[in-house]
Amino acid sequence: METSKSFYKNIIQIYEVDSTNNFASRLISENKGSEGTIIVAKKQISGKGQADNKWESEDGKNLTFSIILKPDFLEVACQFMISKMVSLSLMDFLKNLSIDNISIKWPNDIYIGNNKIAGILIENSIKGIVYNYAIVGIGININQTQFSSGIPNPVSLKLIFEKELNIDECLKEILDVLETRYTQLKENKFKLIDNDYLNSLYNFNIWASYIYKNQKIMAKIVGVNKFGTLLLIKEDATTIECDIKEIKYII
Ligand code: BTN
Repeated sequence: METSKSFYKNIIQIYEVDSTNNFASRLISENKGSEGTIIVAKKQISGKGQADNKWESEDGKNLTFSIILKPDFLEVACQFMISKMVSLSLMDFLKNLSIDNISIKWPNDIYIGNNKIAGILIENSIKGIVYNYAIVGIGININQTQFSSGIPNPVSLKLIFEKELNIDECLKEILDVLETRYTQLKENKFKLIDNDYLNSLYNFNIWASYIYKNQKIMAKIVGVNKFGTLLLIKEDATTIECDIKEIKYII
């Protein structure tokens, strides 16, 4: 691809790999992983999801790729900004396709209605108080129409549009919006990113049921703190802060 944009300069296309995130990590350890390097694979043998889950994707049907970032301009304490920025980029991509009802299910699942279309796995490396690198892994369902029963609420662009999409075109569009959002981060537009993220959150400011520490509760999401912890208010007006292992959405 001929372009001046930095995310297109080094795109590595692979047919088969264990995980594009692992490939990126190996590149970095060999000093070959410069900022903006993209690794795209048609097939992942051990695609990784969040919380030690697997990421399943039918060979050649979807986008599974990783981006190497070196956000040395960002305080390590602000690393959740990367997660917000990437989630918003995927939302922007879907909005540009005129899809309605898109949201970010905290911390960074991308939903259309009640169905998951994309997932993000970010692996950070910190050296002391300085950012070393972030490997941003993205899986987005494009042309897959059948999913194994273990995957909760999946959807793909083909299921929405009832036609195949060009996967390379989708990648190009995602890289465009990612570059825009990453630039916002570099320009310290934290407020803009924070507001856009909060306003895109699934269930934001509405009462809904959750399983919290193994108990069913009614609560309202009211925010996300700097470290990415979810803040909710319960019916008895007490607030709770939770990490990903402590709360389950009831969808
Ligand atoms: C999740 O929602 O659980 C996160 C899924 C992340 C999947 C992508 S696919 C490309 C990259 N390589 C991996 O092994 N995982 C991420």
